[in-house]
Amino acid sequence: MFTPERLVIFAAALALGACAVMAPAPTGPKPGLGKPISEADIAAWDINAAPDGTGLPPGRGTPAQGAKIYVEKCVVCHGEKGTGKPFARLVGGDPVSSGIETPKTIANFWGYPTMIFDFTRRAMPFQAPRTLTDDEVYALTAYILALNKLIGENDEMNAQTLPRVRMPNRDNFIVRFPELTPSLPRIPQ
Ligand code: HEC
Repeated sequence: MFTPERLVIFAAALALGACAVMAPAPTGPKPGLGKPISEADIAAWDINAAPDGTGLPPGRGTPAQGAKIYVEKCVVCHGEKGTGKPFARLVGGDPVSSGIETPKTIANFWGYPTMIFDFTRRAMPFQAPRTLTDDEVYALTAYILALNKLIGENDEMNAQTLPRVRMPNRDNFIVRFPELTPSLPRIPQ
C-alpha cells in the first residue's frame, strides 16, 4: 500500500497543495483565454419570459395567424389541431389526478401562459429551434390557447395580454419552502 514512492508522491502533493493555498494572487500577463461578451451577444440568449410577463418581447399574433403557421411547421409532429401524435398533444387532456398516471398537458398542468411562449420560442419546431419570429411565437401561442378555449378566437396575444390569461391549473402549485423563494413573480389577476 504505502510504498516509499507513494509516500514521496503524497508528501509532494501535500506540499504543492500548501503552496497553492499560500501563493499570492498571480500578477503579470494573464493567460489570454476567452474574450469579453457584448450586451448584444447576451441579449440573443437572454430570452426568458417570466410568468409576470418580464422578458416578453414586442410583437403580436392571433389564433388565425397561428393556425396557418401551425399547419406549415407543427402539424406533422403535434397532429391536426394539436390532438397529438406522434408527439405531445397540445390540446385537452384529462384532469391530473395523481400526477403520475395522467399525461400532463398544457391545459391540465402548465401553470402560466408565458411558458407556452417561452418553450415554443426556444425549442420549437423541434428540428429548427430559434427560427420562429416573435410574432410567429405570439400567433402560435394564441392558437394553442384558443384551441384549449382559454382565450377567444379573435384575441390577440402580446406582451400585455398573454400574462393575463389564466391557466386552469395555475393555483395548484404549492411553494414548499416560501421562505427560500422570496421573490415569487407577481402574477396579474
Ligand atoms: C419534428 C417534430 C416536431 C415539430 C415539427 C414540432 N414539435 Fe413541438 N414537440 C416535439 C417534441 C419531441 C416535443 C417534446 C414533448 C413530447 O412530445 O413528448 C415537443 C413539445 C412541444 C410543446 C410542449 C408540450 C408539452 O405539453 O410538453 C409545445 C408547446 C410544442 N412542442 C409546440 C410546437 C409548435 C408550436 C410547433 C410548430 C412551430 C412545434 N412544436 C413543432 C416535436 C416537434
